[in-house]
Amino acid sequence: MSNISFKELLQKIFFSKEEILRLLESQGDDRQLLFAKAAETKKEFVGNIVYFRGLIEYSNRCSKNCYYCGIRRENPFPHRYTMTDNEVYDAVKYAYKERYSSLVIQSGEINSQKYINQITKMLKEIREITNKEMGITLSLGEQSEETLQQWKDAGARRYLLRIETSSPELYSKLHPNDKLHDYEGRLNVLRLTRQLGYQVGSGVMIGLPFQTIENLADDLIFLRDFDIDMVGMGPYIEHSETPLFQYRDSLLPQTERFDLTLKMIAILRIMMKDINIASTTAMQAIDKMGREKALKAGANVIMPNLTPQKYRKNYMLYEDKPCIDEEADQCKNCLSIRVRLAGDTIGFGEWGDSKHFANRK
Ligand code: 5AD
Ligand code: SF4
Ligand code: FES
Repeated sequence: MSNISFKELLQKIFFSKEEILRLLESQGDDRQLLFAKAAETKKEFVGNIVYFRGLIEYSNRCSKNCYYCGIRRENPFPHRYTMTDNEVYDAVKYAYKERYSSLVIQSGEINSQKYINQITKMLKEIREITNKEMGITLSLGEQSEETLQQWKDAGARRYLLRIETSSPELYSKLHPNDKLHDYEGRLNVLRLTRQLGYQVGSGVMIGLPFQTIENLADDLIFLRDFDIDMVGMGPYIEHSETPLFQYRDSLLPQTERFDLTLKMIAILRIMMKDINIASTTAMQAIDKMGREKALKAGANVIMPNLTPQKYRKNYMLYEDKPCIDEEADQCKNCLSIRVRLAGDTIGFGEWGDSKHFANRK
């Protein structure tokens, strides 16, 4: 451990793993200094502008069985739905009218040819509806090179695939040990999205059972080494109808998971100054002001939910997910206020591409 002061540490441009651990464990005044440095870095490198990405939770059907997730295949309770084409296009038109900077289409993981072609068709239609003016992001799990290329050709520009944890050992404790849930396979898809020219997003969960603070430091190093463009990180939140629920008594208290997530965001902002970092919904599940706090800690992207209200209760990845009873308009108004409370302005009508992606090119 070096004996430089915390202030000196924050001036460094490259952190070692030990230094990241020191930042993650900071308390009191040091913790405040960390958040102040992150806020300053955000202001300087990406500005106090927050981009809205309209989130469409297209379908909760999933072929996978992740041990933490409320819509895993073997959970019989969620009513399974897929939005109709018109429901998707209505959500798209709403986002376009409201001048959101982009759209995220998310769903469980399905690999059938029918599903792949359906997404392709929708992408082409969305491009028409929005005069090619909206950036489209996909978050549809692990897919083949051919599929990812097909979707890219149809107009998708960004791809989100969380690695969930950068530790293969921990990954194997959170997923069934089969080909469908293979860490290396997932990493390869992430690499593929990069090769195909997508802006690439990833992220991890924080406060998982068996997860150590070293794992979290490694996660940050992973995101830096991968040179990621966009990040979404959130606290792990238990769900009673999942296998990991049995470990609920061994977890950190939710408030500590929340605090660690804020620190992860702040440290990452300092490490990777010009990337896009999301203020995730899971933050608000733990703390009513969670998303504002994440913006203050360095996040610059927020995802207002566009999913029709009638479906929302069936897309419960974790318990206490907010915005279950709201419609798109309510989330928009609510988040507009939250962004202002955090001292930021909304980048309406701007794509808000990852500056990191542009700078790499
Ligand atoms: N708690 C927090 N995040 C979760 N996710 C899935 N289940 C949970 C949970 N119980 C996250 C995963 C996934 C994303 C869509 O939602 O990181 O990649
Ligand atoms: Fe399916 Fe994603 Fe949930 Fe895993 S985390 S079960 S892939 S929706
Ligand atoms: Fe959905 Fe506040 S963000 S109601």
